[in-house]
Amino acid sequence: MTTGSMSVTPALAAQASQPRGDGGFEGVGRAHGKVILTGEHAVVYGQPAIAVPLSGVELTATVRADGRGMLTSSPFRGSIEDAPASLEPVVTALRGTADLIGMPVAGLSLTIDGDVPMGRGLGSSAAVATAVVRSVVDLGAHRGLRVPDAADSPLADGAPTADPGGRGPADRALHALVQQSEAIAHGRSSGLDPYAVAADGPILYSGSRPTPLRLAADLGLVVADSGSHGSTAQAVGGVRTLMADDPLPTRARIEALGQITEHAVQILAGRGTRAELGHELNRAHVLLQELGVSTPELDSLAAAAVEAGADGAKLTGSGLGGCVVALVNSAESAHAVGKALTTAGAARVWTSILAATPDGSRESRQEEAS
Ligand code: PMV
Repeated sequence: MTTGSMSVTPALAAQASQPRGDGGFEGVGRAHGKVILTGEHAVVYGQPAIAVPLSGVELTATVRADGRGMLTSSPFRGSIEDAPASLEPVVTALRGTADLIGMPVAGLSLTIDGDVPMGRGLGSSAAVATAVVRSVVDLGAHRGLRVPDAADSPLADGAPTADPGGRGPADRALHALVQQSEAIAHGRSSGLDPYAVAADGPILYSGSRPTPLRLAADLGLVVADSGSHGSTAQAVGGVRTLMADDPLPTRARIEALGQITEHAVQILAGRGTRAELGHELNRAHVLLQELGVSTPELDSLAAAAVEAGADGAKLTGSGLGGCVVALVNSAESAHAVGKALTTAGAARVWTSILAATPDGSRESRQEEAS
């Protein structure tokens, strides 16, 4: 599936539709990628994690009731009925949302387009599911179909009771659909990604609940794609095996990763320095190496970022491929680190500067350099 550049939408249901030439409507939904700053893997064992939006990396789902029932995406183009098993999470999100709002699913055609690379720890599967759910809700709104409150819906079971924007029960029902799609894509997961790809700023995910994180200072990140695919299920399974075979040191590492996130929250709130945060990212990378989820490519990208002046760097997401994230202190440093990462073999590099939020408002600038 291809995925480009992102506007952050505050609520799952809030999307604008565009009239088509034939007088019908298409429903449009968007979602962005995410980067886990700290806490991946540990979050599966109940430890906290911090995720930030990769707000220039987005994808768009467009749904039309054209009677054709086609799916158009980069991995597959054809009848939805013939979609490969790998796209089952997408089809489930489409059908589940149509069922929820009472829209006939037969004849709906779906197009997915954008720039969240798959299998790179950037939340592509959750972003696709979120964009698809939003697109169907958008189309439904033009037919007077509303999302029932979670209380009316069987999907309310297990639906979280809070989300980053404190949205209503209808949004919780939609969120449950994204979680359902994620469960098919990855098996058991912490539930972090569906919040992270829908949030308009950094979140702390703790106790299965997201909380918006305030930034006391700008947060500059450079994200580099190693170019290789990482399987979340395989990486999570590997750590599970380690936990069963060698529980004491594994548990200690998971807890140390949790403490790193707690310290990072303090630093982001202004009670610590960027150098300290960088040091914590470096420590997290070593712990993730020890958990067996790094690769030589991820190690050398993280080392190249630090060598080029980053305050710290680590793998992000499940590992075993995917991306590294590096902390930088200025646009100049971001440029130098991005260049070094490209020289060290990164397939793509993105820079994301999240602006400080002294008054609760938040902006982010993002550019791709590759
Ligand atoms: O690589 P991603 O984007 O699927 O992130 C996985 C994060 C893990 O902590 C490894 C798994 C999870 O369920 O949170």
